[in-house]
Amino acid sequence: MSSIQSGGVPVLILKEGSNRSRGREAQHANITAAKIVAESVRSALGPKGMDKMLVDSFGDVTITSDGRTILDEMDVQNPAAKMLVEVAKTQDNEAGDGTTSAVIIAGELLSKAEELIEKDVHPTVIIDGYQLAQEKALETLEKIAIPVDLKNQDYLKKAAITAMASKLVAEYKEYLADIVVKAMLAVAEKDGSRYKADVDDVRVEKKTGESLGETTLINGIVLDKEIVHSGMPKRVEKAKIALLDASLEIEKTEFDAKITIERPDQIEAFLKQEESMLKGMADKIVASGANVVICQKGIDDMAQHFLARKGIVAVRRAKKSDIEKLAKATGASIVTNLQDLSSKDLGYAALVEERKIADDKMTFIEGAKNPKAVTILIRGSTPRLNAETERSIHDALCVVRDLIQEPKIVAGGSAPELEMSKVLKKYAETVSGREQLAVKAFAEALESITNTLAENAGLDPIDILSELRSRHEKGETWAGIEVLEGKVRDMSKVGVFEPLTVKKQIIKSASEAAMMIIKIDDVIASQKMKAPPIDPGGGGMGGMGEY
Ligand SMILES: Nc1ncnc2c1ncn2[C@@H]1O[C@H](COP(=O)(O)OP(=O)(O)O)[C@@H](O)[C@H]1O
Ligand SMILES: [Mg+2]
Repeated sequence: MSSIQSGGVPVLILKEGSNRSRGREAQHANITAAKIVAESVRSALGPKGMDKMLVDSFGDVTITSDGRTILDEMDVQNPAAKMLVEVAKTQDNEAGDGTTSAVIIAGELLSKAEELIEKDVHPTVIIDGYQLAQEKALETLEKIAIPVDLKNQDYLKKAAITAMASKLVAEYKEYLADIVVKAMLAVAEKDGSRYKADVDDVRVEKKTGESLGETTLINGIVLDKEIVHSGMPKRVEKAKIALLDASLEIEKTEFDAKITIERPDQIEAFLKQEESMLKGMADKIVASGANVVICQKGIDDMAQHFLARKGIVAVRRAKKSDIEKLAKATGASIVTNLQDLSSKDLGYAALVEERKIADDKMTFIEGAKNPKAVTILIRGSTPRLNAETERSIHDALCVVRDLIQEPKIVAGGSAPELEMSKVLKKYAETVSGREQLAVKAFAEALESITNTLAENAGLDPIDILSELRSRHEKGETWAGIEVLEGKVRDMSKVGVFEPLTVKKQIIKSASEAAMMIIKIDDVIASQKMKAPPIDPGGGGMGGMGEY
């Protein structure tokens, strides 16, 4: 029970059992929790980073080095820690790559803030300093970024390779990067003087195969479904496609209440009626002129038979999301009531064909009216590898999209972080008051990326950092650490490139989360969320909550 004293009379403001911590104690607890989260992803950063094996409560195993996935799978309870998990989500939604970096920097910003709080720098001052530093850092990134010409796909490919370099799929990164770039360019469209592209227009399907080297790009949509009836053609050119969000079945319940069968001839009549209803459905499709039907629900055997006789191809139980994609791609409208189907609702594709992939049959819809639909079919040797490949391809697709939308790059290997750090250290001297300390702290926090990349590659971070600092001091903007060779290099010459968008978003997501956590000096938690008591015997509540 929490209360405040008002003229000697306690005023109750919180429900009994609520838990409250305030001031430095709250700050310390929050920062510690957030730092633990950041610590948990550190070892995954960069091409030499480690993978994590995550086991969920059902015993399902995920192997990944993707920051967002790691944090998603961890069942984080602490509210401040959850805010750091949010950083990864924001980063993923806004830029699609850079999740691990954003979380590491956020953790480091908090760590530095705590040191300042201990030196009696007020949190508001830290926040003001961080705000100034964030602006300066973003401005620096804009300044050093290199504009690229989208006609030169080389940069797009290099950026896609960098995004996949740290993942399980690194062995096939060049091959996959090529597919990713082609896929993203196929769905990009002009928007005024710029281009825009949507990652969702590239579908990713997985099918266990021989190796990732068999992964292909299909100019269309692939359904993980076979054609329903063996009597139907396996291939239809100039397909006129009907999309149905309805079943070609007779709902048995429709009859339950109405029919009581007493004599054998009634059964026959009943079956006849059922047959003629199904034939009516098939006829409706024939009348529309469709030669392909893709149905979100079931198709009765009898209806299949009628359709097959007319040479119409049918696929059943297609996913809703697939049907929606198909509508977009083929120009068909999704029909929910079969009676409404007409020729106007049909979509077009140059080819619909069933092909055998591994042991399964899949239906390919290619050369659609609107070519803005492509599919990457991943063929790794195990489902687990395919799942991680899908995540890596997602990152690479996002990176290419980022570049299409904002064609500017920076080199990697912590070169931009160190350049920002250098500029911020100089800038700090021009900032008056204690905010200066916070700007400096921000500059130091950025160096954590160098440290982490070096540590993960088994190199000495102290040596590397001092060499890199002095090189940046000498004006080598792109000096960074090439972790595959384990050497300090000009990263722009090595060809490790990342979109400016990703780097800017890392700075934004990390500093915003850090500032938000620093600002909190009072945590009031309901009974349900209360922290475990410090003194289990005494029934106390961590010394808080009751006073
Ligand atoms: N060959 C390389 N040498 C050094 N750093 C690299 C190399 N390839 C990628 N990186 C760096 O690895 C970092 C990205 O690692 P990654 O594990 O993908 O984390 P994130 O989730 O932050 O994208 C970036 O800082 C990038 O510059
Ligand atoms: Mg990455």
